[in-house]
Amino acid sequence: MDRRHFLYSLASLGIGTQLGCTSSVHNYPAREFELVAMAGQALTDTGKPAIAAWTYGGSVPGPQLRVRQGERVRVQVTNQLTAPTTVHWHGVRLPNAMDGVPHVTQPPIEPGQRFIYEFDAIDAGTYWYHSHFQSSEQVDRGLYGTLIVQERQPPTVHRDVTWVLDDWRITAGGLVSESFGSAHDMSHAGRIGNVITVNGSVSDQFPIRAGERLRLRLVNAANARIFALRFQGHRPMIIALDGHPVAPHEPDGGRIVLAPGMRCDVVIDATGSPGERYPVQELFSPRQQYVLMDLAYDTAPRMTDQIADPITDRLPPLAPLAANPVKEPDLKSAKTHEIVFGGGMMGNLHQALLDGKPTDMRDLLRRGKAWAINGHISDSHHHMEPMLRLALGQSYVLRMRNDTAWHHPIHLHGHTFRVTRRNGLATPHQEWRDTVLMSPREEIEVAFVADNPGNWMFHCHILEHHAGGMMGLVSVG
Ligand code: C2O
Ligand code: CU
Repeated sequence: MDRRHFLYSLASLGIGTQLGCTSSVHNYPAREFELVAMAGQALTDTGKPAIAAWTYGGSVPGPQLRVRQGERVRVQVTNQLTAPTTVHWHGVRLPNAMDGVPHVTQPPIEPGQRFIYEFDAIDAGTYWYHSHFQSSEQVDRGLYGTLIVQERQPPTVHRDVTWVLDDWRITAGGLVSESFGSAHDMSHAGRIGNVITVNGSVSDQFPIRAGERLRLRLVNAANARIFALRFQGHRPMIIALDGHPVAPHEPDGGRIVLAPGMRCDVVIDATGSPGERYPVQELFSPRQQYVLMDLAYDTAPRMTDQIADPITDRLPPLAPLAANPVKEPDLKSAKTHEIVFGGGMMGNLHQALLDGKPTDMRDLLRRGKAWAINGHISDSHHHMEPMLRLALGQSYVLRMRNDTAWHHPIHLHGHTFRVTRRNGLATPHQEWRDTVLMSPREEIEVAFVADNPGNWMFHCHILEHHAGGMMGLVSVG
């Protein structure tokens, strides 16, 4: 189908034109992009031969797509891989047909075929796109990139930089390990790699200039690795989480925690000294701490310029970003749903309903499943029955309990929710997120308005857990 026909068929179905209750008045022309899913290379700077990867446009990450808030985005995706694929716009509140979930919102894009994604970038912030077809393999092989939606009034900084974090499981022979779908990864912490990259590179330093103010957009594109970053000698201020503004604050315990799928925008003032190096440590796992890279200061003297206050020579305090147009949930009238996540090794799940049939843990593992939501496991994206049916426009609270021994970043498509409570206590920032990290045994409440009609995926973003059954559909309408 060529583009004109495709758009025509979209128009005749009345889809792809507007989201829920948002007005579709456009002040800007559409931004057009092309993504070609194709074989390419990764780890090109290790001094060893590059490894074969699956890419958007030849390298990993794929191109950064940048648009202004309010613009219409049109992306033509061509599949030159040997496998089917789709593209999911993680965190973007868009019409269901554009969400990129195979068999749920669209048929897979077969090799040689094209698909056009089109939506309005109603929310500013840091988003990312990735394959949603057999994602534990396709995202791991490199099918991801970032989408930046620029605020109408972006904060004044010297540089706006993105770090996409990932890890790779590389064999002694220098290839991507083919151990996809391993039962061990699936039932434990997921596929953790042995080579860590920032923007696809293993470089051990990030050049910085004394006196500059940086906006750093952190994105975790790893299948399973959780990062907790500490910027030694610096005081990063968090200004947005999963794209959405939050009152500027320093990270809890000085660590910026990013589970797979999550984003965090921080502002860093380069208060270090010219010529010095300051490690950025990764401290999530007490037994495996390491230096991600060093902030390497140029020897040039501290810069002084128009951003700094001319009297004190200090950078001005940070103003909060303007809120995105997300509807505020009404907690008084909200309906509450309880959701319990179970399974995995060292858990209490002995049996679950696999596509409705009681199945014991041994059989589940044999069938590549290990995780359940409210005792149910979905086998695949085909013919999934919604686990929740929500009324359009109604406010909901999801009271989620992690009844497992593992961490799980839980992601809901098509919506943004407020993280209101953790273990019964109100959260200090009441942050908007699309992915919330649950610690073992933790209970979390999130609240949102079900304002975007359609069938939306709800799943763990540790992609091996997702494949291992930790997913469901939330139907809004
Ligand atoms: Cu980022 Cu359903 O995924
Ligand atoms: Cu999980």
